[in-house]
Amino acid sequence: MHTKNAIELHFLTKTYQVGGEPLTVLDIQKMTIAQREWVSITGQSGSGKTTLLHILGCLDLPTAGTYLLNSVDTTHLTPATLSKIRNSTIGFIFQRFNLLATLTAAENIALPLRYAGLDPQTIAERLDEMFTLIGLNERRNHYPHQLSGGQQQRIAIARALIIKPSLILADEPTGSLDSTTGQEILKFLKMLHSAYPITIVLITHDPDVAAHGTRVVHIKDGRIFSDTANL
Ligand SMILES: Nc1ncnc2c1ncn2[C@@H]1O[C@H](COP(=O)(O)OP(=O)(O)OP(=O)(O)O)[C@@H](O)[C@H]1O
Ligand SMILES: [Mg+2]
Repeated sequence: MHTKNAIELHFLTKTYQVGGEPLTVLDIQKMTIAQREWVSITGQSGSGKTTLLHILGCLDLPTAGTYLLNSVDTTHLTPATLSKIRNSTIGFIFQRFNLLATLTAAENIALPLRYAGLDPQTIAERLDEMFTLIGLNERRNHYPHQLSGGQQQRIAIARALIIKPSLILADEPTGSLDSTTGQEILKFLKMLHSAYPITIVLITHDPDVAAHGTRVVHIKDGRIFSDTANL
């Protein structure tokens, strides 16, 4: 059976103007990611990984080329349409969790649904679902500084999942965690990946973390250097 592509890039570039000179930091001729794949992105610091992830997340636009997300050409959409697509289909996970310090765990997780204007009843139900999924029910009313790194990352993952995204974009999600906690988070992502119809694109410097993907794409100087299936 033909699987649909979650992501298709064609002749995609990102060029910055630095001191009057163009600097191309991303140059990808073609890349496709099928739905339900887990692609690890590796590469040296400065190779363009985060730039790529921001474009995939519709947080940034390419300078040239085409990006199809679930077969929709995102290149000519208005910012309002892009943010609608982002808020309904993409979950982000960051290295430093990016939780809001003044909100409790539950309030942080609920935030994307509040932005989406969902009714309190639905939000409460989805929150219960999320806490069942991540555990930590007894930490609902804790503030981020009252949680461990691993707990904060679980809360951040729940915040990404509460919109029921089809695509999870993660930038070094275990980069701020010790290796045991990092392993737990990866195990949790693995469980999610097999239980739900989600595509994962995950940036990491760590080859052991990258090995969890079904595919590893190595970026060098903004170009795809290698693209290997993990069998
Ligand atoms: N706004 C900008 N203006 C000019 N150059 C930029 C800008 N943002 C990023 N760059 C350059 O683009 C390149 C790629 O940056 P990017 O953040 O994607 O790297 P990365 O692979 O994520 O690195 P790291 O592993 O350190 O996070 C870098 O050389 C960086 O200096
Ligand atoms: Mg980066």
